[in-house]
Amino acid sequence: MLVLGIETSCDETSAAVVSDRKFLSNIIASQDEVHRKFGGVVPELAGRKHIEVISGVVRSALAQAGIGVDQVEGIAVTKGPGLVVCLLVGMGFAKSVGWSRKIPLVGVNHLEGHLLAAFLGNPKPEFPFLGLIASGGHTILCLAQDWGQYRILGQTLDDAAGEALDKAAKVLGLGYPGGREIDRISKQGNPKAIEFPIAFTKHRELDYSFSGLKTALLRYVREHPESKNDLPDLAASYQEAVVEALVQKAAQAINKFRIKRLVLSGGVASNTRLRQAFEKVAQAKGLSLFIPSVRLCTDNAAMIALVGEERLKRGFRDDLSLDARAVLPLESWQ
Ligand code: KG4
Ligand code: ZN
Repeated sequence: MLVLGIETSCDETSAAVVSDRKFLSNIIASQDEVHRKFGGVVPELAGRKHIEVISGVVRSALAQAGIGVDQVEGIAVTKGPGLVVCLLVGMGFAKSVGWSRKIPLVGVNHLEGHLLAAFLGNPKPEFPFLGLIASGGHTILCLAQDWGQYRILGQTLDDAAGEALDKAAKVLGLGYPGGREIDRISKQGNPKAIEFPIAFTKHRELDYSFSGLKTALLRYVREHPESKNDLPDLAASYQEAVVEALVQKAAQAINKFRIKRLVLSGGVASNTRLRQAFEKVAQAKGLSLFIPSVRLCTDNAAMIALVGEERLKRGFRDDLSLDARAVLPLESWQ
């Protein structure tokens, strides 16, 4: 089934064509240049930029897949969670193409897109697996039992892992986007130089908490102003605390649920140190590990089209009343 996917939940305008769980194209237009001088995504500007480029991005996705719009058999669009002014652009576009060409439309949960993006890689995972979604807005540990069958085991109680990295990059005066800069500069630093606290939530053992870590960094920099002269060590040590928290909780879940397969996804899954740490855990515990390529970890429409194809095949459809949702939990299909 040829499915066109559209993703505009934050600051990437993306369109892709997927067929039988393989992507034929995956165009991503980044808005980093628009938001760099503000040090973060400005929703109003992001929405305007999506409007400006979406038509060209969709056209490129179709062209690269070598198909015309008349061959598209389904349209999948991100319905949330995300910035509503941004989501509405993708949705409006998807609805108008779907309505005018009489192509079935389906809304897709962005988090599900991240979780299942590994099915676009090679080799592909099998269900059940333990999934860790680590992005700019979410940190979720879950058991994926089948397509549309998820059990959430833990999530962050405050900041997301990506948010913790982005905020630290700002404190340290690193470039934008922050997580990627921390990854880059940490390669020259010693991750054991400074011991930052790894947050363990007391009562809910598989939940995460990252806000204390950010406070610890602020305190450390205030008490040791000279440490800013060695940004690689500072960044690497901070990154290590984030990575350790993510890895240790996942390891706990692996032991508890006797998992055989592990899937890491979301923008933070592009982090070099995190990928290495998960490879180590997988090796030590004899698990199969699946981490999508960097382009499929960060926001992209191929993951949306993938989930859309599965939903469309099972008869899920949305009409023009489909609405954008700022908050949308990862939920099983009804
Ligand atoms: O999944 P994503 O593209 O968008 C959301 O759904 O949030 O994730 C974006 C997050 C940002 O916090 C960004 O700093 C982080 O992923 N990120 C990274 C890296 N690349 C992106 N964090 C650490 N290392 C990276 N290489
Ligand atoms: Zn995302």
